Amino acid sequence: MVFLASVWLVVASIHLVTADSCDNAEDGYTCSPEFSHSWGQYSGFFSVPSEIDASVPAECELTFVQMLSRHGARDPTASKTATYNATVQRIHDSVTAYSEEYAFIKDYEYTLGADQLTTFGQQELINAGYKFYQRYEQLTSSNMPFFRSSDQDRVVESAQNWTQGFQQALQEANADTNVSLPYAILLLPEESGNNTLNHDLCTAFEDGPVGDIKGNAQAIWLSVFAPDITARLNENLPGANFADEDTVNFMDLCPYNTVADASGTVSPFCGLFTADEWLSYGYYQTLGKYYGYGPGNPLGPTQGVGFVNELVARATGRAVVDGTSTNATLDSDGATFPLDRKLYADFSHDNDMVGIYGALGLFPAEVTAPLSNTTRTSAADAGGFDSAWLVPFAARMYVEKMQCGTDAEEKVRILVNDRVVPLQGCGADELGRCGLGDWVDSLSFATSGGLWDECFV
Ligand SMILES: *[C@@H]1O[C@H](CO)[C@@H](O)[C@H](O)[C@H]1NC(C)=O
Ligand SMILES: *[C@@H]1O[C@H](CO)[C@@H](O)[C@H](O)[C@H]1NC(C)=O
Ligand SMILES: *[C@@H]1O[C@H](CO)[C@@H](O)[C@H](O)[C@H]1NC(C)=O
Ligand SMILES: *[C@@H]1O[C@H](CO)[C@@H](O)[C@H](O)[C@H]1NC(C)=O
Ligand SMILES: *[C@@H]1O[C@H](CO)[C@@H](O)[C@H](O)[C@H]1NC(C)=O
Ligand SMILES: *[C@@H]1O[C@H](CO)[C@@H](O)[C@H](O)[C@H]1NC(C)=O
Repeated sequence: MVFLASVWLVVASIHLVTADSCDNAEDGYTCSPEFSHSWGQYSGFFSVPSEIDASVPAECELTFVQMLSRHGARDPTASKTATYNATVQRIHDSVTAYSEEYAFIKDYEYTLGADQLTTFGQQELINAGYKFYQRYEQLTSSNMPFFRSSDQDRVVESAQNWTQGFQQALQEANADTNVSLPYAILLLPEESGNNTLNHDLCTAFEDGPVGDIKGNAQAIWLSVFAPDITARLNENLPGANFADEDTVNFMDLCPYNTVADASGTVSPFCGLFTADEWLSYGYYQTLGKYYGYGPGNPLGPTQGVGFVNELVARATGRAVVDGTSTNATLDSDGATFPLDRKLYADFSHDNDMVGIYGALGLFPAEVTAPLSNTTRTSAADAGGFDSAWLVPFAARMYVEKMQCGTDAEEKVRILVNDRVVPLQGCGADELGRCGLGDWVDSLSFATSGGLWDECFV
């Protein structure tokens, strides 16, 4: 059931940063960037440097922003938390002696939960809403976003935390505002039905052999980068008898223990590995996204088509045309899919965002050559396709429209985590922008339904 969430929020308790926090609204996660920006989708949001100036050009006025956000930092998923716990138990049961650097593990107790946002993750979203209000004050001072969220707990809660940050900035700018929390958020069910903020419908993608493409590519890379690390762990933790898969699980304890701390203090697990090893770990996560949901998977970008068709509708003010994952009942009703708003804010997951980037055509082969399963490619060499740059916890994409000078037509631009990602296939200018019409024309993959037909063969 779709319903309007009505939850009472305590505004008074908002803090944008604590004094010793590793995280702040403007820059995101700033502690130990030489490690912490290489944790793939388990990195906390950080502002990615933009080669193209990300500010709004002086001669332009923003007319529209669609924001799409990932939920904030969470505990491991239920199955992963069981695996990590078992890994720690195994170490405690079988390791006969701990070398000095590893001695803390002897007394380490596994206490992480499952699936829910951490306190740090909630704060990330408060910060994101605050930052959004300020970046887009031209629009936010007189327009409220239309909110939608996929209905899993951590996503809905993220949306609510975002509204807290937005409301705080709004009140700071206008003490007399008549806007108050809670904001209405339209929830899209994950358990059944059509949902453009959560993949699930395309059976060939969900159940078919395309799922193996991700695992196979990751397994090859694992066999390249992990053996030396595994050998070192087995030397320092005699008796652990790790295989390479255990090494990745063990490395995961670093980001997860870091975001389990309210201020994001870097976990002692992180220091057991070099910056170069973290880059290899990050590349392992990047391969998972590229071959699982991105351009490396034959049906990955198709999962993002429904959302892109909704975006086209919003950006052009025309009704949604889509035969994939949109819900026609919702999208043909002005109450659940208005077309006259200037600001839209949607909340989803990392995998869905990767599919949407693919459906937007942001990383074609000319920009991101098919990622090698044996040689690490840097984020810069991959045209920005790096899971930490694209879908960290609290990731956000902004799709902006702007009216510049006396131009006859508005321009479109996309930023992912503050980095301008130049538009492809529509004759982008030096600022990465295209005219609205050319941009919509360039989205023919999405507007023609992607490869949705192949979902049900
Ligand atoms: C870890 O596993 C042990 C043994 O099965 C169990 O007693 C404990 O509750 C688990 N801890 C967590 C945090 O899941
Ligand atoms: C985030 O939102 C949830 C759900 O509304 C709320 O319980 C929690 O207190 C919020 N977090 C913070 C830090 O305000
Ligand atoms: C808030 O005030 C504006 C005009 O200042 C008005 O248009 C709007 O309806 C008011 N909203 C509420 C919720 O009272
Ligand atoms: C579409 O949305 C309507 C209204 O919320 C809901 O009743 C219906 O079950 C949804 N249909 C699908 C296929 O998701
Ligand atoms: C690994 O990469 C090679 C070269 O691109 C490719 O031919 C092969 O299919 C890939 N293997 C897997 C399992 O991804
Ligand atoms: C839901 O999606 C399916 C598959 O694309 C489509 O056939 C159906 O018409 C959609 N339902 C609604 C209510 O839009």
